[in-house]
Amino acid sequence: MPLQHIVAVSQFTRLDLESIFAHADLMRTLPRTAKRLDGRILATLFYEPSTRTRLSFESAMQRLGGSVISTENAREFSSAIKGETVEDTIRIVNGYADAIVIRHHEQGAAERAAAVSGVPVLNAGDGPGEHPTQALLDLYTIRHELGRVDGLKVALVGDLKYGRTARSLALLLRETKNAEILFVNPPTAPMRNDVKLALSDAGVSYHDEPDLDAALAEVDVVYQTRIQKERFESAADFAAAKGAYVIDQASLDRMKSDAIIMHPLPRVDEIATEVDADPRAAYFRQAHNGVYIRMALLDLLINRGDASAAWA
Ligand code: CP
Repeated sequence: MPLQHIVAVSQFTRLDLESIFAHADLMRTLPRTAKRLDGRILATLFYEPSTRTRLSFESAMQRLGGSVISTENAREFSSAIKGETVEDTIRIVNGYADAIVIRHHEQGAAERAAAVSGVPVLNAGDGPGEHPTQALLDLYTIRHELGRVDGLKVALVGDLKYGRTARSLALLLRETKNAEILFVNPPTAPMRNDVKLALSDAGVSYHDEPDLDAALAEVDVVYQTRIQKERFESAADFAAAKGAYVIDQASLDRMKSDAIIMHPLPRVDEIATEVDADPRAAYFRQAHNGVYIRMALLDLLINRGDASAAWA
């Protein structure tokens, strides 16, 4: 069934992934003159801060010839401050835009938005819940960097309790073959049981590996994440987690020569800048891939295969 909204990675089959990635490859080479979304409008509603997700969605829409309306800091500068519900806001924006990208601080908010929306809703992160378009660009990056998505050994590192990107990527790996996941987290930020249960149900192999050095030596992908100060309930838990795992030159020396380091970004101090020049540091290329994946998603959701849309 064609995708209408993008709320969670559980929506994607392996076939969907292959089709989205092939479409992203096409977007990479699409001439700037193509204007496949000429006359269409994207609304970006961000109730939480963002650099990459908002700007790459907006860049994607404009590269396809469409235009963007936006409320940055919607928690303060939209009518949410006056008490308007997400549902009412979405009903209103349905009259203004052909698709809506929403980032919200509450887990489940994107699903609530999609439930009342006649135009496609794309979840750009719902609190500590999911970040499905990030997971798509992460797996697309792995495919681009390593030439495969199957048989991957992946270390998810850092804040796995509140980190929606790590949660979504772990869940998306269910659609790959023979994945093995290592959870490398401080004791105060473990991967939650809902994800572990879903992996078990899907037959995906995983284990906790608190020793980062041991993990580095055996994995194909090191997926580092920021310890998210803003999400911790206790200052003591945050202090215990902060600085627990840092990727530096010594980490590079332990890694396989063909492994890659990823990070959804922003980083604080969990990857030393000395790592940036190493060819295995894939995180800036990863962020750039976000534009192609988001172009592909906007084109697939808004154009829905319309053959009359311009290709050149
Ligand atoms: N990766 C990511 O979601 O980054 P932003 O918070 O800058 O959008």
